[in-house]
Amino acid sequence: MSWEEEEKPKGMTRREWVRLGMTIGAVGALASVGGLVSGQLLPPPIVASGTVRQDLLYTKFPTPQWWNSKDGEQVKVTDFGLWEGATGVWRGVYQGSQLLPGTGLPVIIIRVPYQAPQGTVPTASDLTEAKIVLPQGYDMFYDNGSDTQIVVLFDRCVHLCCYPGWHVVTNPPPLRNYLVPPPTYDVYHQDPVYCICHGSQYDPLLLAVNYNPVNSVNYVGATHVHGPATRALPIVPVQAKGGVLFGGMPDPRWYEYC
Ligand code: FES
Repeated sequence: MSWEEEEKPKGMTRREWVRLGMTIGAVGALASVGGLVSGQLLPPPIVASGTVRQDLLYTKFPTPQWWNSKDGEQVKVTDFGLWEGATGVWRGVYQGSQLLPGTGLPVIIIRVPYQAPQGTVPTASDLTEAKIVLPQGYDMFYDNGSDTQIVVLFDRCVHLCCYPGWHVVTNPPPLRNYLVPPPTYDVYHQDPVYCICHGSQYDPLLLAVNYNPVNSVNYVGATHVHGPATRALPIVPVQAKGGVLFGGMPDPRWYEYC
């Protein structure tokens, strides 16, 4: 019996999940995947009659999820319970309320424990040394100063550009023989961000400076803790205005590798 036949009784096979993983980000955010090149990931520099929106908007997921009914709505910081996550789009080009297909960057939004002592965040001197400048008013995560912390990640795997997910795929389950101890699982028993295609995982509690060799730039990302990826998944710097999450572009090269 092939591995695919063995998995079939458990539900979707790995191949079916991989197909789904390849198209998840396409829903609502990207018209197609196969033909995309890096320059197409960012909104085109000139758009005849569209507006690039910096606020994050929900995108519908192909399987039932708590945020699917919010498709197209703004992402609010109060929407998230602890460890809840969702998919969204940032820098989409809109005509009225319509997102133009093929525009915007897919993102994952995750609420993590407030100031988790086991988490890591680059210091100001780490950023300076790496020549990283965050947009004014934006930080590496949202922090309301009392009890809520939210991390936003670019949703394209640094391995081969599939769409990692947050707690949306459990079959096959993510493996737990980690490269480095992830506090997300070791302390809080929550699986890290999981890319179904080849099993890479990223810990949203371990933010670190990494290097994107595709275009020679340092960036901040969620540390790679399992699988064939070789570096962190880039964050999106954020701030909240009126309770709505907005992303701030630090350097387009952080996100140009697919
Ligand atoms: S594309 Fe994500 S692990 Fe291969």
